[in-house]
Amino acid sequence: MTTPIPRTEQGAARDAAVTPVPPTHHPGYWDDVFAKGTQFRPVSEDELGWFRAHTRPATGMTAIDVGCGRGDLAHTLAEWGLHTTGYDFSPLVVKEAAETYSHPRLRYREHDFNAGAIPNDLAPESVDIVVCRLVLAFLDRARFLTDVRRWLRPDGVLYVMTPVYEKQPETAHRGVREEVIAGLGDGWAETTRYDLCDDGCVTAVVLRGPQDCCVPT
Ligand SMILES: C[S@@+](CC[C@H](N)C(=O)[O-])C[C@H]1O[C@@H](n2cnc3c(N)ncnc32)[C@H](O)[C@@H]1O
Repeated sequence: MTTPIPRTEQGAARDAAVTPVPPTHHPGYWDDVFAKGTQFRPVSEDELGWFRAHTRPATGMTAIDVGCGRGDLAHTLAEWGLHTTGYDFSPLVVKEAAETYSHPRLRYREHDFNAGAIPNDLAPESVDIVVCRLVLAFLDRARFLTDVRRWLRPDGVLYVMTPVYEKQPETAHRGVREEVIAGLGDGWAETTRYDLCDDGCVTAVVLRGPQDCCVPT
């Protein structure tokens, strides 16, 4: 018979360091968040105006909204004439989005961008606009940016909107660090950045034209 080795505080800390899967990587975490009625920064008219100016959406284009939440922006894109799929890994919020919005060019699908196999409908060079709004902080960034580059057409656009970590109070979700945001444009033909609040606490980066080179991590 073997005697179990007692866990020390140090050992527990080491285990935690080896398996650092944050709670936000689990769909159940987000089911709870949405079940509580939590609201996120709404899509303002200003944000929509800047989004239009920089991503240049057009009728007939294809768009995906990664981590679409309640589906508001995906629905707007469909109304603008884009064939749009909103993906989220929270079953609860995908159901809510599908029940809230119905449009012939819009659908919602359950998918985990970190752990799921790539859906068949996300074929290489098949997407014009990828939306990543208030989600990048929760994704496996290296995988996501590699996947997006594959899905986008040569002139395709990735829209990232995120809180800036350094400019947030010490709450649970502080967004993406400035250093990472600054590096997002590596390997893209065109990068545009603009802030969505006066002190730069929330920022948008529009990346156009994935190039055949380096992928930021
Ligand atoms: C802060 S909310 C933002 C929702 C929406 N994009 C918005 O702007 O209101 C983050 C969303 O990302 C989703 N999410 C987080 N990690 C995900 C993953 N690995 N795959 C798919 N969705 C994910 C969550 O379920 C949640 O709906």
